[in-house]
Amino acid sequence: MTTYHFPKEFLWGVSSSSSQYEGGYDKDGKGLTVGDVITGGNKHTTRKITWHYKNDTEKHYSEVGGFWGALSVPEDGIPDVFDDEFYPSHDATKGYEYAFEDLEALHELGVSSYRMSISWARIFPNGDDETPNEAGLNFYRRFFEKCKEYKIQPVVTLFHYDMPLAITLKYGGWKNRKVIDLYERYARTVMNEFKGLVTYWITFNEINSVTVEAFKNAGMLSEEESDRWQAAHNELLASAKVVKAAHEIDPENKVGCMVAYTIGYAKTCDPLDQWEQYVHAREYNFYLTVQCLGQYPSYKLKEYEQKQLHMDIQEEDFEIFKEGCVDFISFSYYATGVISKKEMDAGNLMGPPNPFLKRTAWGWSIDPKGLRLTLNQIYDIYHKPLMIVENGLGSVDVVDDDGKVHDPYRIEYLQAHIDEIHKAIVEDGVDVIGYNLWANVDFTSLGTGEVKKRYGLIYVDINDERQGDFHRIKKDSYYWYKEFIEGVK
Ligand code: BG6
Repeated sequence: MTTYHFPKEFLWGVSSSSSQYEGGYDKDGKGLTVGDVITGGNKHTTRKITWHYKNDTEKHYSEVGGFWGALSVPEDGIPDVFDDEFYPSHDATKGYEYAFEDLEALHELGVSSYRMSISWARIFPNGDDETPNEAGLNFYRRFFEKCKEYKIQPVVTLFHYDMPLAITLKYGGWKNRKVIDLYERYARTVMNEFKGLVTYWITFNEINSVTVEAFKNAGMLSEEESDRWQAAHNELLASAKVVKAAHEIDPENKVGCMVAYTIGYAKTCDPLDQWEQYVHAREYNFYLTVQCLGQYPSYKLKEYEQKQLHMDIQEEDFEIFKEGCVDFISFSYYATGVISKKEMDAGNLMGPPNPFLKRTAWGWSIDPKGLRLTLNQIYDIYHKPLMIVENGLGSVDVVDDDGKVHDPYRIEYLQAHIDEIHKAIVEDGVDVIGYNLWANVDFTSLGTGEVKKRYGLIYVDINDERQGDFHRIKKDSYYWYKEFIEGVK
């Protein structure tokens, strides 16, 4: 039996995202988001964007997702909602309706933090509206007030794969520098509104997916490499400006960046594999270096130059990066990969499986030790407090004959990861400030678009055939986490 020595103020929590949780996609003045035009899918069928041409109602599909975001909506295509299609985000798992009931369950669970996101389109339905939507502000305000009463710290992400669709249509998404100002206005609005209620903010969820997820993250129909990197540059600039604004608005504010940190192990000691592995790590460290150190790595500037990308980078941008360094680093951690130059050259971009690790039903490796490694690697370079804001197991969970959901595999997964965090703190001295597991309740998987891949501590009665009434059942893992938190507090 391990005796735990977590810091007293450690944030134990759970995590969610507006587009996967809330539903109510057109309620109370909310505008459409990019997620609202993406269909469901599963392990074998990729999710699609539905769209039409101007002055034409014929429906077309383009694939979204895929390793490099395989996108083929023409620049004059208009992504839109069609009545005969199923879009998971429209109902999601009805968080907009169940928010307070679910919060009650979190209170009972004993968490000290709840990492969630605000939907930009609930506040500014078109992204560039003159005034914010009061109904959207009220919804979140009431929610944060209740969090305060329950002593649950909201850790609020401002942008989690849910850009207002109008920004895509009018501005072309994040490749356009004008979007930086729109985002800053949105961020300032909510930070002013929720001053005193929210102090932990995260500027962008998985910012390092921006060049991969052209539509879902960057809100773009363009696949041009220059545009992708311009979008990355613009999101980084927007993040820096918002960090600065947050500190001006309330010196108590703590702002974090957030990356998907998926380390890859070199398959062999062949220097070619080692180099490839290094380059892989550099890709996500690029985002951390800009956001934590305010420096723009030389290798990235060289890459832009060598690829002859046409980008709008201004001298003053570098000053803004320096002034907008984050207070903490947050990241998602689910799995690790394997890097093999030979196999990647042969077309296996995902890399080979790791023979030392078990995998989930969706093929993701299960690697608790990799989390300790990740924490150490990040801390060694950046020396900033670290917060895990996503970690969990996607699995098929079923309601048993006794009406309960028994998920010992999830408990095993979470326990093993928490043990490695503990070692990173007590044996390695890493400053870890929180753990927010994915997820509070079941959602539709972002990648595959199915509910079958469940992550929640709380089961939601809905399936991929849309049968069920959304009622909640606390899983065994919920009771295990409750007991665990009580034990370590
Ligand atoms: C992260 C995202 O990439 O992974 C979440 O921030 C997502 O939104 C999570 O749900 C798990 O991925 P998936 O595809 O299994 O839902």
